[in-house]
Amino acid sequence: MKLLVVNGPNLNMLGFRDKNVYGSTDYAALCEMLTKKGAELGFEVECYQSNHEGAIIDRLQEALSDGTVGLVINPGAYTHYSYAIHDALEILHFPKVEIHISDVDNREDFRKISVTAPACDVKLAGEGVQGYVHAMEIVKERLK
Ligand code: DQA
Repeated sequence: MKLLVVNGPNLNMLGFRDKNVYGSTDYAALCEMLTKKGAELGFEVECYQSNHEGAIIDRLQEALSDGTVGLVINPGAYTHYSYAIHDALEILHFPKVEIHISDVDNREDFRKISVTAPACDVKLAGEGVQGYVHAMEIVKERLK
């Protein structure tokens, strides 16, 4: 079962970004953890990251025909204004979970708005990087 994990802009900077907000796990360690935990859940995990909106959309479109069965996505700041990513997500008809490392609902006002979440099944926030594991568990549950 192929599970795609998409991370948007600046998430490759985990470990360098404000550690009080995002924790100290860096992006490589996150991917390693997701590959391992995903395998325990029966997933072959692909970690994809891009700082570019169009590249993220291209990768989401590819997921239509590459055997992907579920998606975990942290669109980063695109969450708050990318209707293009929203529309790309809408086309995908497998379990989709949006995850945010930080508690976006209790930060600046602009972070409270997610234009992408309505195109996903579930939105998680504020669980740190463990939220990605929780998101994979939700995908698995929804595939049953
Ligand atoms: C984030 C929250 C966004 O507001 C921010 O722009 C990010 C990361 C999170 O995981 O908490 O880049 O999506």
